[in-house]
Amino acid sequence: MKILITGATSGIGEATARKLHSEGHEIWVTGRRSDRLEALQNSLGRERIKTSRFDVGNLDEVKAFGAAHAQGLKAVDVLINNAGLAKGTQKIQEGQLSDWQEMIQTNVVGLLAVSQLIIPHMVSRKSGHIVNLGSVAGRWVYPGGAVYCASKFAVRALTEGMRMDLLGTNIRVSNIEPGMVNTEFSLVRLGDQAKADAVYSGMQPLTGSDIADTISWVLARPSHINIQELVIYPTAQAHLGQVHRN
Ligand SMILES: NC(=O)c1ccc[n+]([C@@H]2O[C@H](COP(=O)([O-])OP(=O)(O)OC[C@H]3O[C@@H](n4cnc5c(N)ncnc54)[C@H](OP(=O)(O)O)[C@@H]3O)[C@@H](O)[C@H]2O)c1
Repeated sequence: MKILITGATSGIGEATARKLHSEGHEIWVTGRRSDRLEALQNSLGRERIKTSRFDVGNLDEVKAFGAAHAQGLKAVDVLINNAGLAKGTQKIQEGQLSDWQEMIQTNVVGLLAVSQLIIPHMVSRKSGHIVNLGSVAGRWVYPGGAVYCASKFAVRALTEGMRMDLLGTNIRVSNIEPGMVNTEFSLVRLGDQAKADAVYSGMQPLTGSDIADTISWVLARPSHINIQELVIYPTAQAHLGQVHRN
């Protein structure tokens, strides 16, 4: 299959790219860091891999990507809307508007903008699969996470809405909702490696590969099966703030 993955320069996206490439799929990986895209391409051997650098939250860049690859985008079988981030952990009364804008623009508007490049072609072909990276933060809210949670609640609503609007087109839509996964997520959110490491200290979080394996399984279900939502916690995490540490 031809699989477009946003945010494949680290974490879940990169692990998913490696997994799906190893299974023989053609992957198209994107992100803002071109050095990482090039490194991924070099390490996978340059066959069945294409890279594109753009910011999903920058609508001019998404539009330019769409215009430059109008033909290639028609053939995408699977879209994995993975690019996303959290910024800051301040309470709502202390948060920064710029952080809120970046989260909503990337996690919600970016997901929509990229989806809009792909979905009409899937509808014409009457086949396709969209996998959105939601989160347990798209189901439950925690202090200091209001806007990130709101963005992931939106991803859940968009997944359900896509399912409803696309009913009858044969297109599948899935929302993968992980708990704690040790990626660059906490470094991006907290801006400090020591603080990011502390998030996972004394407990075993999920890895990007754990989620990649799950996505691979979701894609491999027979075409009459749509895995619509999957909540995946590490065993050491029972709920958002409920973590067992040794
Ligand atoms: N880690 C967790 O605990 C966890 C839990 C639940 C859900 N998630 C979700 O899983 C997804 C992947 O996160 P991760 O944990 O793998 O974090 P990560 O290691 O920081 O990876 C995030 C990826 O998204 C890309 N990205 C971020 N902003 C972008 C933008 N504006 N345009 C294009 N690409 C962008 C990054 O690439 P560039 O920086 O190169 O652009 C990177 O490849 C996110 O949607 C996140 O919300 C994570």
